Amino acid sequence: MDAPRFYDRTVSEKLLYTSFLLLVGLSYLMANAYLYVTHEGLDGKPGLSVEDVAYSYYGNRSGTRLEAAIRGPMSNQITDTDRNVMVAWLKDGAQQEHFDKDIKPILQKTCLNCHVASSGMNLPDFSTYEGLHKFAEVDTGMSITSLLRLSHIHLFGISMLLFVLGYIFIQSEINVYFKRFLVLSPMVAVFVDVLSWFLTKWDSQYALVVVIAGAVLGFSMAAQILISLYQIWFLKRPVAG
Ligand code: HEC
Repeated sequence: MDAPRFYDRTVSEKLLYTSFLLLVGLSYLMANAYLYVTHEGLDGKPGLSVEDVAYSYYGNRSGTRLEAAIRGPMSNQITDTDRNVMVAWLKDGAQQEHFDKDIKPILQKTCLNCHVASSGMNLPDFSTYEGLHKFAEVDTGMSITSLLRLSHIHLFGISMLLFVLGYIFIQSEINVYFKRFLVLSPMVAVFVDVLSWFLTKWDSQYALVVVIAGAVLGFSMAAQILISLYQIWFLKRPVAG
């Protein structure tokens, strides 16, 4: 027997498929809107970009506020040699043991003229390690715990959704290779997408893979939904013979 086609389905089945497809399409749009409002502008520029994706998983590791300050507005308060020592300390994790030995003497030269409570200038107090450390924390992006939570929800949820979607879609009548591609590609894309979140946390270069996998997922889902919706209502049973 031939595989069933949409024209073999009852009106009830068609209504069930149609309402499901529309709701899936809507949730996909919602998911993208959510992604936009939570990621947009993370890199300091308006709009959603690959950099925003990199920032959310990898963080902004080049930039502690302290480094930005000694390269920017505070740069004339510090010598080049001292700046290099401070940047190296920051890159090394800004640990307390090196603070007293290497960093405190630098701060005492000029910074503490202004950056102590007693200066009366109401500036952040850098006389203690704790005071400075608030400006020395590196943003390492999403925590592994959040990533694990997000990925298991995504993998369970989206694979179920793609399974049902694919089961509806395979009743359409299109080139069989294209059909196989459209059934398989979103599954692979979800896997690659989730994998690349972890890769991006490790190396921000992989943010591009997150975006490409997301685009493949979006394309395949949209194609499955649109082709199905069209054929459910408009593809007529071919006349025999
Ligand atoms: C002459 C006074 C003065 C000295 C000396 C000084 N600062 Fe500042 N610093 C300021 C003022 C005023 C601000 C707040 C305005 C601003 O951010 O430009 C500030 C802000 C900062 C900030 C906060 C930036 C942010 O992200 O909000 C950091 C970090 C900082 N200074 C580091 C340093 C370091 C390190 C030194 C020594 C190398 C130093 N400052 C020396 C006056 C000083």
